[in-house]
Amino acid sequence: MSDYFDMHCHIIPDVDDGAKNIEISLNILKKEYKDGIGNIILTPHYRVGMFETPEEKIRENYLYLKEQVRDEIPGMNLYLGCEYHVNMEMEEELRARPQLRIADTQHVLLEFSGADSAAYIKERVYVALSLGYQPIIAHIERYPALEKDFDLIDYLRRMGAGIQINADAVLGEDGRSAKKFCRKLIKEDLVDFIGSDAHNMKERKPRMGEVIRLLRKKAGDGYVDHIFRENPQRILDEAVQ
Ligand SMILES: [Fe+2]
Repeated sequence: MSDYFDMHCHIIPDVDDGAKNIEISLNILKKEYKDGIGNIILTPHYRVGMFETPEEKIRENYLYLKEQVRDEIPGMNLYLGCEYHVNMEMEEELRARPQLRIADTQHVLLEFSGADSAAYIKERVYVALSLGYQPIIAHIERYPALEKDFDLIDYLRRMGAGIQINADAVLGEDGRSAKKFCRKLIKEDLVDFIGSDAHNMKERKPRMGEVIRLLRKKAGDGYVDHIFRENPQRILDEAVQ
């Protein structure tokens, strides 16, 4: 049964540095489906000065992809989200652009830079929460300011932030230290979501099947259901009324 979620990926054709065309998009999605993923939250980049694809183009390409998927992978559900690179205009941008949220919910997938300090990350997460958003911190293993600071990650979660890590990092594709860090986060129960962050079918392909198999063995079926179904389903359940 393919009812698990991938909630972080770049599969909409030609809108960011992810899938370049519809063929690549469909190939990625076919692999996801084979891996047990039947629900995809598509999260194209939005980053000022780097990824500012007009909303209309993203929506148009998303709807085109949805149409193709209906024919080629019936049973696969797609939802539109965004990976929002945080800046100091976050408050205004989130208010003015509902498309920066996930699937019309209050959830936002927040990306930080490697150079951002712990204080900055904490402050931006706090601001997002105080405005009524549900922030999810994207690939937390990538930020040196948080690496090995399990207390701070625990604190961010208690504040109300969701913690996401990448499948590649868990599997060791992003190096030994990221792998060790992610495995420890899982052990300490500090992870809410695991996404593929897939961009293509080459060096950044989706490896959800591999990570699901690994975690079934290491953490059990209950944990896998929790991370790949229950938690992401909760994002969609909290859709704005
Ligand atoms: Fe991403």
